[in-house]
Amino acid sequence: MPVLEAYNLRKIYRNNGVAVPALNGVDLQVETGEFVAIMGPSGCGKSTLLHLLAGLDVPTQGEIFVTGQPVHALNESRRAVLRRRTVGFVFQAYNLIPNLNVADNVELPALLAGVSPQEAAQRRAQLLEALGLADKPTAFPTQLSGGQQQRVALARALINHPTLLLVDEPTGSLDSRSGNEVLALLRRFNAEGQTIVLVTHDPKVASFAQRVIFMRDGRFVGQMKAAERPDPARVLERLVQVMA
Ligand SMILES: Nc1ncnc2c1ncn2[C@@H]1O[C@H](COP(=O)(O)OP(=O)(O)OP(=O)(O)O)[C@@H](O)[C@H]1O
Ligand SMILES: [Mg+2]
Repeated sequence: MPVLEAYNLRKIYRNNGVAVPALNGVDLQVETGEFVAIMGPSGCGKSTLLHLLAGLDVPTQGEIFVTGQPVHALNESRRAVLRRRTVGFVFQAYNLIPNLNVADNVELPALLAGVSPQEAAQRRAQLLEALGLADKPTAFPTQLSGGQQQRVALARALINHPTLLLVDEPTGSLDSRSGNEVLALLRRFNAEGQTIVLVTHDPKVASFAQRVIFMRDGRFVGQMKAAERPDPARVLERLVQVMA
C-alpha cells in the first residue's frame, strides 16, 4: 500500500502580487518501507514539495494522500494532527528551538501529541542513545555542531514513530563524517522499515536510496531505480544532465 500519493501537484507562491511558480505538476507514489531520494538544482522546488507532502503548506492545485488521508483537503488543525502523528519532518535548517535543550526539543512533539512525560522521556533517551547523543540531553542547540543538530532534529522527527519520514537535507556544511553518520542512521531506520523521502545534493547519499528522482523547474524529469542503481558516479552523471 502506498504511504504517500501525490497527483498533479502545483504550487504558485505570490510575492507582492508577482506569481512565482515553484511546482508545475508533480506526481509521486511512495510505497511502505521505500527510501526515495530527490535531487535537483537549487530553487527547483524540492523544499516546496516536501512542505506540501508534510501538510506544512497547501498546494495551489492537486491532491496528496498520506496513509489514505487527503492532506490537501484538511484544515490547518487537522494538518497539525497529521504532522504530529503520521509525518516526521527534518527541516533544511533543522529549526531546533534555541532556548530549549536537546531533551526538551526532542520530547516536545511527543508531549504535544499527548504522550505521558515518562513515556516521552523514555523514547527520547532511546533515540539519543541510538543517534550517538546520549551525553547531550542538557546541551542547547548553539552548543552543538551542525551534524549533531541534524541528529537532534532527526530524533525529534522520529519520536512519534512517524509512518513517513521527510528529510530536507541541508545544502551546506555537514562535514563528511557527520554526513556519513546521519546517512548510516537513515539506512538503519529504513532497514527497520521506516519509509523515507529525502532531499539531497549528495550523489553518495542518493545512491543508498531505492529510487532517485531528478527535479528541475518544478517538475520530475527522470528517475533511477534500485535495479540500475547506485553507483554514485552514475547518479552524479544524471544530475549533471538534469542541471545542464
Ligand atoms: N515562501 C515563498 N514565497 C515565495 N517564493 C518562494 C517561497 N518559498 C520558495 N519560493 C520560491 O519557489 C522556488 C522553489 O523554492 P524551493 O525552496 O522549493 O527550492 P529548493 O529546490 O528547495 O532549493 P534549495 O536546493 O536551494 O533548497 C524558488 O524560486 C523560490 O524562490
Ligand atoms: Mg530547499
